[in-house]
Amino acid sequence: MNDTYPQVLFKNRHPDRIATFEEYRAGGGYRALADAIARRTPAEVREIVLDAALLGRGGAAFPAGRKMMTIAEDAPHPRYVVCNADEMEPGTFKDRVLIHADPHLLIEGIILAAWSVQADRGIIFIRPEYENAARILEREIGIAGEHGYLGRHILGTEYSFEIVVHRSAGRYICGEVTAQINALMGRRANPKQPPPYLTQQGLWAKPTLVHNVETFACLPHIVQNGADWFKSLARTADGAGTKIFGISGKVKQPGCYELPIGIRLSEIIENCAGGMLDGSEFKACLPGGASTGFLPRQHYHVEMDFDALKKAGNRLGTGAIMVFDHKTCLVAATLNLMEFFARESCGWCTPCREGLPYIRDLLARIEGGDGEPDFIPMLEEMKVHLYRS
Ligand SMILES: Cc1cc2nc3c(=O)[nH]c(=O)nc-3n(C[C@H](O)[C@H](O)[C@H](O)COP(=O)(O)O)c2cc1C
Repeated sequence: MNDTYPQVLFKNRHPDRIATFEEYRAGGGYRALADAIARRTPAEVREIVLDAALLGRGGAAFPAGRKMMTIAEDAPHPRYVVCNADEMEPGTFKDRVLIHADPHLLIEGIILAAWSVQADRGIIFIRPEYENAARILEREIGIAGEHGYLGRHILGTEYSFEIVVHRSAGRYICGEVTAQINALMGRRANPKQPPPYLTQQGLWAKPTLVHNVETFACLPHIVQNGADWFKSLARTADGAGTKIFGISGKVKQPGCYELPIGIRLSEIIENCAGGMLDGSEFKACLPGGASTGFLPRQHYHVEMDFDALKKAGNRLGTGAIMVFDHKTCLVAATLNLMEFFARESCGWCTPCREGLPYIRDLLARIEGGDGEPDFIPMLEEMKVHLYRS
């Protein structure tokens, strides 16, 4: 499969172990950082990322370069970079796989981002269930420091930067950036509407750049190979890069696959995930994690990129594809997800706090054979409230 689909983020991936620091470096690792520090200005690095049209891989698809650009040259210090490794969305597991495959790719990506905005401190915010990944990162951060890539006077320059790993207390809302910043400051993890934006006033009211694990992991490759190369990895004209798709459900080979942005859903299911289980027919999927909508059969050949899914009335989200077959009851599947979302609502906004348990209870009654025709308009009305909030 690797000949058909160029492996960039997974190029050092082994089936049974993590890539070592030596392997990472032997494959060209830390060269982008060394080149950037020696030969480029931070603004040039930000420009390359902007030109590469990298969209954030954490679900919201905001252009990464544009976010970096919003930290002004004269912004105050200390500046922070936060890596969002919370990954609590049901069905999403790509960040864990990426960290376990090649931790130095993430570490180099964070340092490059930090250099590009001249940040002083980095924090990896990780969910508590990812204790193994947290330990791997702590160990490998230590190794990167021993080799001069982290700590004081990185590679003999005036630039200093360090990274710590912070274990979350474990709530879904902590993955949302503004809630995450509150959690990191020891406050209740409530979300907050901008302005001010975090890049202006984030952690302790200082400029803070937050990205997803996969977004950071793209940076060394973009800086090393250039914006045009990155864009050329995608199959769609407006797409850029590869995407790690985590596929689960009624397929023969569930797992994480690195594939070009814009690959068709049908190709992912049939060529990468081994096809549907014997006796199963594709009914629908969630194309990008539990917070995306059901994608029905008529979109089976949709191009998996941000724009194409938007046109289909859906979202690429985190690229976590959950596949349902003709025997799966989508009411039951939705109820299952609603149990999660109702439990995990932080309670800050009324439509979510009150609406999710309401939806869950209606679905539970339908599932229990106690549904009534009136429930459909009630559910539709509640959907409007939730989408508006
Ligand atoms: C409820 C909720 C949970 C989220 N969880 C995560 C998460 O676990 N990881 C993540 O990277 N982004 C998560 N996000 C999106 C982040 O708020 C943010 O957009 C992202 O971390 C920015 O990184 P990016 O620009 O690299 O995509 C979540 C958003 C919401 C609303």
